Amino acid sequence: MNDAHDRVHIEFMGKVFLVSEGTTLLGALIEAGRDSVKEIGCSGGCCGACGVLYRRPDESHVRTGLACRVPVQDGISFSLVGQYPLRRVEYNLSEISDPKQALFDLFPEITTCRSCGLCVQACPQGIEVQRAMWCAVFGDFAEVAALFKSCVQCGLCTRVCSVGICPFQIAVYASRAQGSHFTGPAPDLVARMTSIQSGSYEKEWKAVLRSQAPLSDQEAR
Ligand code: SF4
Ligand code: SF4
Ligand code: FES
Repeated sequence: MNDAHDRVHIEFMGKVFLVSEGTTLLGALIEAGRDSVKEIGCSGGCCGACGVLYRRPDESHVRTGLACRVPVQDGISFSLVGQYPLRRVEYNLSEISDPKQALFDLFPEITTCRSCGLCVQACPQGIEVQRAMWCAVFGDFAEVAALFKSCVQCGLCTRVCSVGICPFQIAVYASRAQGSHFTGPAPDLVARMTSIQSGSYEKEWKAVLRSQAPLSDQEAR
């Protein structure tokens, strides 16, 4: 049912809108003037704030994705997923002597993974989430960090997990622990930090601070 001017019908939370062909689901919501996009961030597949459930007209199953990456299609139907209520897990890595063992205290649910693969299907970034969880269980934190490099923390994997595992929280923990306890400091980073601490960038830093100061009345005019 495309109309003559390259426009398509989309259905957002039960309401039908006519939008430009070639845009994304997020672009369609902006075009339709929906308030629901106000808290959505980057529009470029980086911030993870636009998780979406969508159904293509020719399919019976619902897919997950990022609204700023999924192209509109005539007859597509979708809803935004919104914030997921996460369990707050607090830890101080400098107080943990054995982070591989502490994983099971902080995230005991990880041992209940059923290897169902739903998290892998849900991930818009194509991450091997299930494999990463098992790497974490077996203490291969370096591999967890490598597998999760492109994670945008959209939370779609958490939403589909029937045993309450939050893979990206676990991946963040494993990556931090890998850095703090096993890999050691990156030489380039240490060199740059030392150079900052010794005042090498004082002039530039002051210029940045000046540029962020509120404008005086005279400058504002
Ligand atoms: S691993 Fe989970 S949180 Fe990260 S991008 Fe994939 S679905 Fe989103
Ligand atoms: S959805 Fe949950 S239970 Fe299934 S493989 Fe992923 S982490 Fe394991
Ligand atoms: S708006 Fe940031 S990932 Fe889609």
